[in-house]
Amino acid sequence: MTGPAIIIAIDGPSASGKGTIARKLAAHFDFAWLDTGLLYRAVGLAVIRSGSDPADIDAATTAARALINSAMITKSFTEAELRSDIASVAASKVAAVPAVRTALLQFQKDFCTHPPEGKKGAVLDGRDIGTVIAPQAPVKIYVTASTKARAERRFKELQQKDEHVTYAAVLKDMEERDARDVLRVAAPAKPAEDAVILDTSNMTVDKAFAEALKITRQKLG
Ligand code: DC
Repeated sequence: MTGPAIIIAIDGPSASGKGTIARKLAAHFDFAWLDTGLLYRAVGLAVIRSGSDPADIDAATTAARALINSAMITKSFTEAELRSDIASVAASKVAAVPAVRTALLQFQKDFCTHPPEGKKGAVLDGRDIGTVIAPQAPVKIYVTASTKARAERRFKELQQKDEHVTYAAVLKDMEERDARDVLRVAAPAKPAEDAVILDTSNMTVDKAFAEALKITRQKLG
């Protein structure tokens, strides 16, 4: 690789479409992709596996340090385990612990500066990529959508796995998790001042990706 890696920072709340956009951008440019939510999910599950409560600061910190040192950060769990609801709730709790965020910081920064497999760039998606992990990123997109639109998407997704799920429960859950992400003291989820806001409430996946690609091309010149 010659020259510094190009970093694309994608932030936003859950079910905003940020993960899909990040994955598609990475494929388009042949950049490495890191879904940073998976790191917090892995830590949350590790705490549960150790028999502790994800809100326990010491247990969460110990788990984050152990995982990051083992270089097995997301490989310790299956994709299905990491994407589960249990992991999601646990992740939002460990993510509020400053020492957990510190433990995961360098790994994410290294991914930006030295993307794996010698790729020329990296796309990271999360909550604090444009603000904390890579404030130097030339492209920052904050992908969002109304709470209603996001809850509807999540409801449709969950309905395929569990016929008893209700829209009201999904909406309540989403509001609670949003509040934990936004109100926490450590790196609260918020757009960077120089981020472009992309509201996907009324967009198809294809349209949202096309818009993100347009923004990226404009920023990269
Ligand atoms: O994007 P996700 O649903 O996989 O994220 C899981 C939790 O981790 C969510 O509560 C927000 C948190 N998170 C974070 O605090 N910082 C990140 N960079 C990514 C995720």
